[in-house]
Amino acid sequence: MARKVHVDGPEPAPADERPIAPVEQASERAWQAQLRPRTFDDYIGQRELIDNLRVSVRAARERGWPLDHFLFAGPPGLGKTTLANVIANELGVNLVVTSGPAIDHKGMLASLLTSLGERDALFIDEIHRLSPVVEENLYPAMEDFRFDLFIGDGPHAKAMTIQLPRFTLLGATTRMGLLSAPLLDRFGFHWQLRYYDLADMTAIVRRSARLIAVPVDDGGAVEIARRARGTPRIANRLLRRVRDFATVEGDGTITAGVAAGALDRLAVDHAGLDTLDRGYLTVVCERFDGGPVGIEAIAASLSEERGTLEEVVEPFLLQVGFIARTPRGRVATAAGYTHIGLTAPAKAPTGGGTQGRLF
Ligand code: ADE
Repeated sequence: MARKVHVDGPEPAPADERPIAPVEQASERAWQAQLRPRTFDDYIGQRELIDNLRVSVRAARERGWPLDHFLFAGPPGLGKTTLANVIANELGVNLVVTSGPAIDHKGMLASLLTSLGERDALFIDEIHRLSPVVEENLYPAMEDFRFDLFIGDGPHAKAMTIQLPRFTLLGATTRMGLLSAPLLDRFGFHWQLRYYDLADMTAIVRRSARLIAVPVDDGGAVEIARRARGTPRIANRLLRRVRDFATVEGDGTITAGVAAGALDRLAVDHAGLDTLDRGYLTVVCERFDGGPVGIEAIAASLSEERGTLEEVVEPFLLQVGFIARTPRGRVATAAGYTHIGLTAPAKAPTGGGTQGRLF
C-alpha cells in the first residue's frame, strides 16, 4: 500500500469495510480517520465529482502521468482530506499531508517538494493561508516541476534550479474567495463540495455504524443523518455520542427514539443546529432586529471569531435558508425566526436556501 506521510501529526489508522474494534479512548481525529472511505467505491455522495475523478485517475494510471493539480473547496467536514486520501490510494502513490499555515517559509516548501517521489501527491489543507512568498515559489513547482533557489546573499548569490518529480498538488480551502487568481489558475480542476443530502447522509451513518459494529435501525440512522447538517464528519461525531447513550441507557441499539433523546440532550436540534447556530440567529433576530447586520457586529455580540462564523456557521444557515446575505449585511429569514420560536416580522424575507432543501 502507498506510504502516507503526515507532516502535521500522527498517521491515522486505516479503515476498510471490516468492522473495527471500537477504540474507546480514540481521539476524535483517530475516530474520524477509522471511518474514512479508502476507495471511490466506498465513497458515498458527491457523485458528479467522484465520477470525474474516476476518469482522471484512470487516465493518469494508464498513461503513467501524474494527475492534474486539483483544488477542493467547501465548508469543513465535507470530505476534502478524505478525497485526497482516496485519490492517492486509487492512484497507488504516496500522499504527503500538510497545511498552508504549517509551511511557514520557503525552505519548508522546498523540503516537502523534494521529499516527493515521481507521481506522488502533496495535500495542502487551508491553502488560502499560504504566505505570499511560499505561494510564489509554488507556481514554478506546479507549472514546470521546478524550484528556484538562491544560494548565498547579496551580489554573490547564485541562482540554482532544482528539478522536482512530476507530482500532483491537491489543495483544499474553506475560503475559495481568498485564493489569489494566479494560484487558482494553476489548478487544472476546481470543485466546490456540496452538503450531502439526507439519503447520502443516512447511508454514511449506516456504513459507519456497520464498521464499528453498532446496531442502528432505519429510524436511528435517519435521525442522526437529519441532525448532522449535511456533513459526514458531524454525522460520525454524533454517531459516537449517540452510541454512548444507547449503551448506557438502552440496550445498545440506536433507534430513532434513542438518537433523538441523545441529540436533544446534546443541544443539537432537529434541523442540526447547535448552540452557536441558534445563538447567531438569536443575535440577528433579537439584538439587530432581523438585520441587515455586518459580520463584525455579530461576531462581537457572540464573542466568537469572525472566521468561524463565516466558514462554519453561515454556510449552513444560508444553505437551509435561515439567513440571507444582502449587500448591506446578513438578514434573518422568516424560517430563521420561526426556527428559534419567534414570530417573523413582515419584512423578513422568505429565503429558500442556496442548494435546495436538504431535509
Ligand atoms: N465517512 C465520511 N465521509 C464519508 C463518505 N463520503 N462516504 C462514506 N463514508 C464516509
